[in-house]
Amino acid sequence: MSKMAQEFDAINLSQGFPDFPVSEELINLVHREMMAGNNQYAPMAGVAPLRNQIAHKAQLLHGVEYNPDTEVTVTAGATQAIYTAIQAVIREEDEVIIFTPAYDCYTPAIELAGGKVVNVPLRSPEFQIDWDEVKKLVNRRTRMILINTPHNPTGTILSEDDMEQLERITSGNDIIILSDEVYEHIIFDEQKHESVSRYPALAERSFVVGSFGKTFHATGWKVGYILAPENLMREFRKVHQYNVFTVNTSVQLALAEFMKNSENYMHISNMYQEKRDFFLSKLEGSKFKVIPTSGTYFQLLDYSEISDEKDTEFAEMLTKKHKVASIPVSVFYHNPTQDQILRFCFAKENETLEKAAQILAKL
Ligand SMILES: Cc1ncc(COP(=O)(O)O)c(C=O)c1O
Repeated sequence: MSKMAQEFDAINLSQGFPDFPVSEELINLVHREMMAGNNQYAPMAGVAPLRNQIAHKAQLLHGVEYNPDTEVTVTAGATQAIYTAIQAVIREEDEVIIFTPAYDCYTPAIELAGGKVVNVPLRSPEFQIDWDEVKKLVNRRTRMILINTPHNPTGTILSEDDMEQLERITSGNDIIILSDEVYEHIIFDEQKHESVSRYPALAERSFVVGSFGKTFHATGWKVGYILAPENLMREFRKVHQYNVFTVNTSVQLALAEFMKNSENYMHISNMYQEKRDFFLSKLEGSKFKVIPTSGTYFQLLDYSEISDEKDTEFAEMLTKKHKVASIPVSVFYHNPTQDQILRFCFAKENETLEKAAQILAKL
């Protein structure tokens, strides 16, 4: 959709990346580290100051202890963390439960490892997990359950009750949890991010994935991290050593310095909540139905009162004719649905959001 947006000169609210600048302080820190000569390989698990800051953040936000030496690894973005965790533990015929719509890197990573994707659909407009359905699908081949909160593309979040259900389902078996928490710092309306790391019975079997690209709106830097208990992290690093070995040194050191001030990551939600509210205020009175978003920088809009076209066709028409690009939600499903819902990224300058909303409101 980004390519189509460029080709047709459309406002691009499709792909999930911010169009506003990265903090000047952070950029200066990267420059400083480069000029100081920190340009050679970092240690395999990541530089110690950054691992320490990541462990400190988990302690500060969730009151949990991760040993920075043995339980924290810096990765080339969340995508590599997810891929590597899956390759480390999934073998031929292992089953992995995923919930769709889902971010697109899960299924290929599972299938490349020889695993089998077991899909649980999240139904619109609530997109809640039906835990009874999950319970029925769990069997002795189930090796992993992959969750994502806050959730791309729907903007939903998992609750304390969801975590308790997950705890019940995984109690007494050896199922591993992979928890994609890249939008951990983008959560709205005073709600709380329920990290699996807060739940000891879950944390002891979980990989938890984060992304500095999302948190510091620097998606192009591709730096993220993964947390896991030592026994799982040992397996993770056996693969990590050979699929990337390590991540760029100067950016890691700069991130470590920047994170010393927790203010730099504690209040990111406020900025995005303002953007969500701004975008929605400009859509007031339009025929689009708003599906509430609790986190991430994505807004789902239902266009069923405007057209009965398939979402892929409607998204294409919207890009080519009206010059606003979005993503049709059916592409995030295992078995595409007939829902008439599009995903819009609101991590954009207000001017861009206003221009897009003015066009959408007229439809
Ligand atoms: C849910 C989810 N997980 C993982 C990623 C990948 O993050 P990164 O850019 O750090 O690889 C994304 C990026 O869009 C995402 O939305």
